[in-house]
Amino acid sequence: MALHGKRILLIISGGIAAYKSLDLIRRLRDQGAAVRCVLTKGATQFVTPLSVSALSEDRVYQDIFSLTDEAEMGHIQLSRDADLLLVAPATADILARMAAGIANDLATTALLATDKPVMVVPAMNVRMWEHAATKANCALLAERGVAFVGPVQGDMACGEYGFGRMTDVPDIVNSVVGHFNGGPLAGRRILVTSGPTFEAIDPVRYIANRSSGKQGHAVAAALSGLGAETILISGPTALADPAGVKMIKVESARDMLAACKDALPADAAICVAAVADWRVKSAATQKLKKNGGGPPMLEFAENPDILKTLSKGGNNRPELVVGFAAETENVVDNARTKRKTKKCDWILANDVSPTTGTFGGDANTIHLVADGAEEAWPTMTKQQVAERLAARISDHFGKST
Ligand code: PMT
Repeated sequence: MALHGKRILLIISGGIAAYKSLDLIRRLRDQGAAVRCVLTKGATQFVTPLSVSALSEDRVYQDIFSLTDEAEMGHIQLSRDADLLLVAPATADILARMAAGIANDLATTALLATDKPVMVVPAMNVRMWEHAATKANCALLAERGVAFVGPVQGDMACGEYGFGRMTDVPDIVNSVVGHFNGGPLAGRRILVTSGPTFEAIDPVRYIANRSSGKQGHAVAAALSGLGAETILISGPTALADPAGVKMIKVESARDMLAACKDALPADAAICVAAVADWRVKSAATQKLKKNGGGPPMLEFAENPDILKTLSKGGNNRPELVVGFAAETENVVDNARTKRKTKKCDWILANDVSPTTGTFGGDANTIHLVADGAEEAWPTMTKQQVAERLAARISDHFGKST
């Protein structure tokens, strides 16, 4: 009963994911929370006040102008009587109204009037989630201290695929528990690298690789979900910034190393980025031209090894340094050797041969190599890999404190 005695005001806004809020009420109550619900007008198109009331075993609040509602409990008291205001699902519309400070129904009035923490669980179409207006609204709300849970990537009711799907109910409950308990990684500062690096050939061309950043970004989101102060240092990707993490965007391996060093000290470093091992020794300052003399000769120089540098970091070494090994043959043997040469604590090997679809795909198969312990994980989504790794990191710090 991790939420025993906690009072949650659950604001359900009008999206198709509203049906999941019924299960959410049940699961929050299973953990001992008292759940009082506010429905927006849109929400009543997806769930009925009767079912919400039956599951919460409380009356349901809907109308700011209802004399009965105001007589029994004013909107100010409603918003202040709770320990947490949880908006699930949070549509693009309610996020926009919250960001603008609009109070044109009971839900947004309660959100504006509250002096209690607010957590939102966005759910919307991928294009709406990626729209500049929604991004700006979310950035503003996050800056004001609103906590975000998700959204996650997946199939949507509208038939599209991408980020915008509401986080699964058990994960929302974990986040709520994490909020009240501070999360198992609260007080830990963890840096994560993600994505590819771009190494310039000239001002318009570069050398890169096939990393999408999906795995690294998922790791950062999972760590942040467990309460860690998470710094995500990423090469160029097409992904949205995960909520709740401090984002640092870089291009080259040397920029990434500098950003990692600036982010120290940290309790842990998780190097998921696919860093280019080599760069062009002297990138041209002007665009290389075809001038009839044949293709240019590119001379390469070795890039710094970020994982190795962090692992050897002397006094500034994070307590836990974790690498990923991208292999196309002898996956486990190569990973074992890499862990030793790079002197990291754990390495997560994955096969990146084209047939596996690991680069850019949504699934991954991990073989974890630690000192004296190895684990073969079944194939799972990159988000599940991230959650499993975050839980393992949390166990590590649980034992070391
Ligand atoms: O981004 P996705 O499309 O989701 O794909 C995920 C992934 C395949 C990129 C990821 O799971 C992964 O395997 N990341 C490591 C990629 C890599 O560079 O592997 P590597 O075996 O070449 O390097 C081993 C480790 O050293 C890695 O932790 C890497 O970050 C680090 N490294 C490598 C070179 C370098 N110059 N500096 C480094 O820090």
